[in-house]
Amino acid sequence: MGSTLLAYFLIPAVFLVQVTCFQFNFSTFQKEDESQLTLSRNSYIVLGAIQVTPDVNGGSMQNLSGRALYKKPFRLWKVNHTTIASFNTSFVLNIRNQTSPGGEGVAFLITGNSSLPDNSQGQWLGMVNANTNGSSQASVVAVEFDTRKSDDQDLDGNHIGLNINSIHSTMQVSLSNYGVNISGAKDLRVHLRYDGQKLSVFIGDNQTLVLSQSLDLSTYLPEKVFIGFSGSTSNETELNCVKSWAFSGTDIGGDRNLRWVWIIVPVASVGILVGVAMYLWLRRVYKEEDLEDQGARLQGNIEDEIKRSNLGPRRFGLKELKQATGNFNPKNKLGKGGFGTVYKGTWRNNDVAVKRVSKKSHQGKQEFIAEVTTIGHLNHKNLVKLIGWCYEKREFLLVYEYMPHGSLDKFIFCDDNKPTLQEESTLNWEQRLLIIQGVAQALDYLHNGCQKRVLHRDIKSSNIMLDSEFNAKLGDFGLARTIQEKEKTHHSTNEIAGTPGYMAPETFLISRATVETDVYSFGVLVMEVVCGRKPGNQSELNNYNNSIVNWVWDYYRKGSISGAADSRMDGDFDEKEVECVLVIGLGCCHPNPHYRPSMRTVLQVLSGEADPPQVPQERPSFVWPAMPPSFNHMDDSLRGSQLTPFTDLSGR
Ligand SMILES: *[C@@H]1O[C@H](CO)[C@@H](O)[C@H](O)[C@H]1NC(C)=O
Ligand SMILES: *[C@@H]1O[C@H](CO)[C@@H](O)[C@H](O)[C@H]1NC(C)=O
Ligand SMILES: *[C@@H]1O[C@H](CO)[C@@H](O)[C@H](O)[C@H]1NC(C)=O
Ligand SMILES: *[C@@H]1O[C@H](CO)[C@@H](O)[C@H](O)[C@H]1NC(C)=O
Ligand SMILES: *[C@@H]1O[C@H](CO)[C@@H](O)[C@H](O)[C@H]1NC(C)=O
Ligand SMILES: *[C@@H]1O[C@H](CO)[C@@H](O)[C@H](O)[C@H]1NC(C)=O
Ligand SMILES: *[C@@H]1O[C@H](CO)[C@@H](O)[C@H](O)[C@H]1NC(C)=O
Ligand SMILES: *[C@@H]1O[C@H](CO)[C@@H](O)[C@H](O)[C@H]1NC(C)=O
Ligand SMILES: *[C@@H]1O[C@H](CO)[C@@H](O)[C@H](O)[C@H]1NC(C)=O
Ligand SMILES: *[C@@H]1O[C@H](CO)[C@@H](O)[C@H](O)[C@H]1NC(C)=O
Repeated sequence: MGSTLLAYFLIPAVFLVQVTCFQFNFSTFQKEDESQLTLSRNSYIVLGAIQVTPDVNGGSMQNLSGRALYKKPFRLWKVNHTTIASFNTSFVLNIRNQTSPGGEGVAFLITGNSSLPDNSQGQWLGMVNANTNGSSQASVVAVEFDTRKSDDQDLDGNHIGLNINSIHSTMQVSLSNYGVNISGAKDLRVHLRYDGQKLSVFIGDNQTLVLSQSLDLSTYLPEKVFIGFSGSTSNETELNCVKSWAFSGTDIGGDRNLRWVWIIVPVASVGILVGVAMYLWLRRVYKEEDLEDQGARLQGNIEDEIKRSNLGPRRFGLKELKQATGNFNPKNKLGKGGFGTVYKGTWRNNDVAVKRVSKKSHQGKQEFIAEVTTIGHLNHKNLVKLIGWCYEKREFLLVYEYMPHGSLDKFIFCDDNKPTLQEESTLNWEQRLLIIQGVAQALDYLHNGCQKRVLHRDIKSSNIMLDSEFNAKLGDFGLARTIQEKEKTHHSTNEIAGTPGYMAPETFLISRATVETDVYSFGVLVMEVVCGRKPGNQSELNNYNNSIVNWVWDYYRKGSISGAADSRMDGDFDEKEVECVLVIGLGCCHPNPHYRPSMRTVLQVLSGEADPPQVPQERPSFVWPAMPPSFNHMDDSLRGSQLTPFTDLSGR
């Protein structure tokens, strides 16, 4: 309940991240608007308009050029040109008091250089000069409104054209064809649209399309550009006015956006940490009271619950297991997990692993039942097989098939503190890929393949076991929950469970596990296995920004994702495969759970039946509530299983 309250408190704070769009609207221009503009020497605001070249003002109007640009740069593209912004802009031009045959016109500019070029008067329209004409140094793409035929290349004295680093238009259209006279002292409304691929120009109140051209602006312009107007006069003059201007562009992120995230996420995290701490404390108090009570009824309960689940694994006697493990001889100890110690044993001449659930663990009973009732029913080659169980003298014991190679984490992390393991401690790429495929199959089976959907809730490398052939087997179902469709609308088991570093960012806000939070943990696991790195700072509960996910995403952003692969593989792998697998990993760790692929899709990608998911080059900010993608982008196999408020069925 604490965490629900917390979520309400957090939503408005986090929401702010979304409100980032580059836009402005000058319905008229006032003197004070000059502070938002970069105006060259001969440009100024007077009579409610930008005078791009001077209105009389006493001086000569001849042979002048000017630029009026919006002061804040606009981020046009980023990272290897893969993300390109789009925009719409509308403005009203008014060109009057022309001395025939006209001088010279104005242009809408997108430029990397806000400075007005020297000697850009006359035919150069304040756009380029004799030195920069035709060179990328000019760094300008423009739509010109040319009012004078200044050379043979000009169509006439009343045309618009598309100019790229040059006064020569790559495309021009006479507006006389549309009954429009640019310099006719009438307001000319222009609408310009760029969708990232195509530039279109519409004129008039009816927005008639007059020019449309495929254009990748990112090939000619730097990542950050200035937008605005330029104009010029020659020995002939005219008044070049812009009376209003609105601009709206997509904000594809960058510094401004990032700053929001940096501010908001930490604030949210502190809130979450406090909330989680309070919640855990309350739970503990509650549990301790509860436990006394439970003691007496425990025996009967467990028998009942396990019996009710009609399970397959056999029931062992305590004596039998003591014998199998040499009375839990420390020499037979295989490892220590979250909820107990695992011993190697021999039963009927077969090796087995016996987990002795810690009596100290408050969750012991619940985990025990969860494990027996979920895994006991399941049968899959990539799930650790539960052979049996035992509950006697308040001892909880679980018997599994023995995994000769132990858990995966020992093979993928170099631990400088520990002496090097066997020489086989470095897995090659084929083994890693096989492990990832195995875990994916196990999870797909849990999510989509068995009668009741099972959420594992604690996917991590120490819960993956390796058999003698390095096949992965998912184990440790201590936190697993089955879900039944009919339980959908009931209570929620408000429980935050899992392991820091593997938990999806929304876990703390929704306080429950979902298919998508499992997929997230799987994504982290994929990266661990490929990169041989720990998932993140384990001491932090919410290590969203300090994680392997960020680390890998950084490589991806730089276009070199395979550079993140474990150096201990000595580059001995198929780069395309590594790339594909890491991209799936990133897709699974998309901050927006709606965009994560289903395990079914993951499997299809791993087997080459489907393309890897589209993953944004820059790690998206975590925004809550998460916006669903448009319907047709949704992963079909996830539909109906998404973040709808259905419940996990608890073992209680
Ligand atoms: C700009 O503001 C004016 C007046 O407030 C409004 O009429 C016009 O629709 C706005 N333009 C855009 C593109 O939002
Ligand atoms: C530009 O306008 C078109 C048509 O109204 C619209 O579909 C598109 O989303 C707009 N783009 C931006 C960046 O505002
Ligand atoms: C422009 O023409 C108008 C009349 O059409 C006149 O009143 C005004 O003074 C002229 N301005 C300039 C700068 O010549
Ligand atoms: C920007 O334009 C000005 C004027 O033409 C020029 O002096 C300057 O070198 C240009 N800057 C860059 C970075 O090209
Ligand atoms: C400007 O450069 C273009 C090439 O981009 C060339 O065709 C044109 O003739 C040049 N114009 C002038 C006036 O030099
Ligand atoms: C546009 O109007 C101006 C002023 O009335 C006139 O001088 C010019 O010849 C006209 N141009 C065209 C192409 O009609
Ligand atoms: C705009 O369209 C309407 C009807 O569609 C037409 O009557 C009108 O003349 C048009 N105006 C212009 C300036 O083309
Ligand atoms: C401007 O110069 C052109 C030739 O470059 C000439 O034909 C024209 O008469 C001049 N106009 C004025 C107003 O001096
Ligand atoms: C403008 O330039 C033209 C030709 O370059 C020249 O004849 C004229 O005197 C100049 N006018 C002014 C005011 O500098
Ligand atoms: C862009 O991609 C190329 C390979 O396609 C790569 O060499 C280069 O480092 C990348 N640049 C950036 C800035 O990531």
